[in-house]
Amino acid sequence: MLASFSRNLARNRRQHIMNDKLLGFPDASGHQALLHDQSGRPLRDLRISVMDRCNFRCPYCMPEDKYHKDFEFLSSDQRLSFDEIIRVARLFASQGVHKLRITGGEPLLRANLPDLIAELVALPGIDDIALTTNGILLAQHAAALKAAGLDRVTVSLDSLDEEVFRQMSGGRGSFERVLEGIRAADEAGLTPIKVNTVVKRGINDSSVLDLVEHFRGSGVIVRFIEYMDVGTINHWKPAETVPAKELLQSINARWPTEPAGSNYHGEVASRYVFSDGQGEVGFITSVTEPFCGSCTRARLSSDGKLFTCLFAAHGTDLRGLLRDGSDDDALIELISRVWGRRTDRYSELRARNSAPADKVEMYYIGG
Ligand code: GTP
Ligand code: 5AD
Ligand code: SF4
Ligand code: SF4
Repeated sequence: MLASFSRNLARNRRQHIMNDKLLGFPDASGHQALLHDQSGRPLRDLRISVMDRCNFRCPYCMPEDKYHKDFEFLSSDQRLSFDEIIRVARLFASQGVHKLRITGGEPLLRANLPDLIAELVALPGIDDIALTTNGILLAQHAAALKAAGLDRVTVSLDSLDEEVFRQMSGGRGSFERVLEGIRAADEAGLTPIKVNTVVKRGINDSSVLDLVEHFRGSGVIVRFIEYMDVGTINHWKPAETVPAKELLQSINARWPTEPAGSNYHGEVASRYVFSDGQGEVGFITSVTEPFCGSCTRARLSSDGKLFTCLFAAHGTDLRGLLRDGSDDDALIELISRVWGRRTDRYSELRARNSAPADKVEMYYIGG
């Protein structure tokens, strides 16, 4: 089974790279990419961070000792306004982006978020809008988000054990409240709901089977993320990452699974369906099986910087052009130039021990 896990991953990745080479052709869902980077990877997804703050202090992302009460986050005038975000998203859509993901920090801390969603939904070319949240505020916002047109949510949840949960969240929130948020999202129809679980060896690896058991058969898709060296402040050590194949092995011993293909070109998670028909689990294997070859994602920070990799050291400022009266052509020219020069493949380089050390923090550009 372990060998077939690796074979399946390798096959998926090769397929993505082959698809990438079909430059200029619509992908399987009929989307036409207009911009390609130096490796021929099309630009298809934009992940928009709307808020750099978060109400959690997950030690792997925003450790409390650095993000204490006197830490200076962005001020509201430094963050892009809704009008500015909508303009950027419209321009990206005109260049072939069809999928948007709203992230943070914690995006539900941004006031009036449904108003932004309603405008983004209406943009020509956008056919999927998802939101990644820690779930604490989801129960109170789910219905309004759905009414605004949000398609679906992905909720971070690292354990169903209160003590372990608090260790992973930096002592904030409670898993019960996150579960309430997931229930409200389900009732509102923000589906398919995905749960993202970062697995850190010796901290929450004991929670993996509980999470699978809890969500099996519910329609909620749990994806286990290999703990990564994002940013520079989580002091990542390779031994703290639990390889996905280890997790799959223990899941399989309880509930046999079979590998399933990707839902779409460039899907980050490798999917496994339960043989008894009770749904699926996914694995995000950035450390043990990097997927840079099919990476079609651009990221926009809440202060308007464009990043072409989750692990990039620098972003390109779009806010200057947004605020100095520049026209759409100037912005498109800049976006095209940045994507056209892109060579990022950090996770592949990490696997060869040749990755750069300087990196942006994850809370700032979203996951
Ligand atoms: P859908 O398949 O559309 O549901 O979303 P997704 O899996 O692309 O997005 P999601 O935000 O749920 O991604 C899950 C996690 O995978 C992120 O939070 C990151 O931890 C990781 N991830 C997503 N994109 C990348 C990427 O480009 N590179 C790396 N290294 N990790 C990524
Ligand atoms: N490694 C892996 N995943 C991470 N996330 C945040 N930091 C890390 C990390 N160091 C995940 C969050 C959330 C998503 C936005 O990114 O847990 O699910
Ligand atoms: Fe907040 Fe998500 Fe970072 Fe945790 S991982 S501190 S919930 S942004
Ligand atoms: Fe994309 Fe960078 Fe992640 Fe590779 S490491 S998949 S290039 S975001």
